[in-house]
Amino acid sequence: MGFLSRKKPKPAPVEIEEGHPIDDELQRMEELVPERVEEPRADIETPAVEEEPPVLEEPPVVEEEEPALNAEVEEDPEESGDARMKAIDLIAPTRLDFLAEKEAAEEAPVKTAEVIAFANQKGGVAKTTTTLNLAVAFAESGYRVLCIDLDPQGNLTMSQGIDPDKVEKSLYDVLVNDMPISEIIVKREIDIAVASIDLAGAEIAMSTKIGRERSLEKALKEVAGDYDFVCIDTPPSLGLLTINALTAANKVIVPVQCEYLSMRGLVQLQNTLRMIQENLNPDVKIEGILPTMLDSRTIHAKEAIEILEENFGDLVFQSRIKKAIKFAEAPVKGASVLKYDSSSSAANYYRDLAKEVLSHGSAE
Ligand SMILES: Nc1ncnc2c1ncn2[C@@H]1O[C@H](COP(=O)(O)OP(=O)(O)O)[C@@H](O)[C@H]1O
Ligand SMILES: [Mg+2]
Repeated sequence: MGFLSRKKPKPAPVEIEEGHPIDDELQRMEELVPERVEEPRADIETPAVEEEPPVLEEPPVVEEEEPALNAEVEEDPEESGDARMKAIDLIAPTRLDFLAEKEAAEEAPVKTAEVIAFANQKGGVAKTTTTLNLAVAFAESGYRVLCIDLDPQGNLTMSQGIDPDKVEKSLYDVLVNDMPISEIIVKREIDIAVASIDLAGAEIAMSTKIGRERSLEKALKEVAGDYDFVCIDTPPSLGLLTINALTAANKVIVPVQCEYLSMRGLVQLQNTLRMIQENLNPDVKIEGILPTMLDSRTIHAKEAIEILEENFGDLVFQSRIKKAIKFAEAPVKGASVLKYDSSSSAANYYRDLAKEVLSHGSAE
């Protein structure tokens, strides 16, 4: 209405006087317009829909082929109505077969963690350093790893930036008071079950317990399905804490400092392990003896490795952990060498060791 009168301003003076009847007509026209608009839309929106061609073919539904069925159904010649039932019966078993195959494919073996104890009753041979850095190397490769600090000195706990003096719940509570181990696990580069100072009293507190050698083994059952590797650092002794570690373990890695190689010490460790195999854990075995803190420039170090290989043959790892100042620096920063200086050759020593351990496969 309004817009029509504004679009035609010039002829308007003539029409204005006669405009009223025209406007009335225009109003009538506009009232009619919506009806006209709706009509063509209705025409457009009704395209002729062709019938959908039945594309689905169902070859197995060949129920009408009576001769074939009759051949199998000859034993029951009566009741022609049964033929349809038996056609269904013929389809049903094939479906059941498919179901059975799927069920078989979904079955996965329940995997439990590989438990590795790092043991040598001699102190300062790189047990703690090896436990942490090998564990982090496993984690770098995508494995789920738990470290266990079974040394009352708490060096492993400290090397992840945790103060053992301030830890409220520790392995002491797990071993002595049967606290679930999940309650003392702290998440850092790897998960770590922490030590505290009072762990030093654990051996005496456990000594009267029935099954005292199996306390750690029992505690680990709770989390065995959550990890691929459990790496246990042990104190420099062959006491009850180390016995707990060896009883819980599948494998033992023995770090040996080449400079002060103690063959007597290694024989003593082997005897302890034999005692554990006979009485507590028949499956545990030495995964390897690891030469650490190697200064390959010295003749002494080369001789030490020769002596190791003469006595232990293939048990000596191919991997070598050479001396590097980074190993002393990293724990101060609360980090593994792999995190402290990821691209260093020191970090690669433990990546190589991880590859070697993984290439050995899992213990049965
Ligand atoms: N490859 C290495 N080169 C130089 N120093 C090392 C090396 N491995 C470990 N260390 C240092 O030697 C000391 C003892 O190592 P540690 O892992 O605590 O031994 P352990 O746990 O057997 O007592 C630590 O100060 C550590 O930083
Ligand atoms: Mg240590």
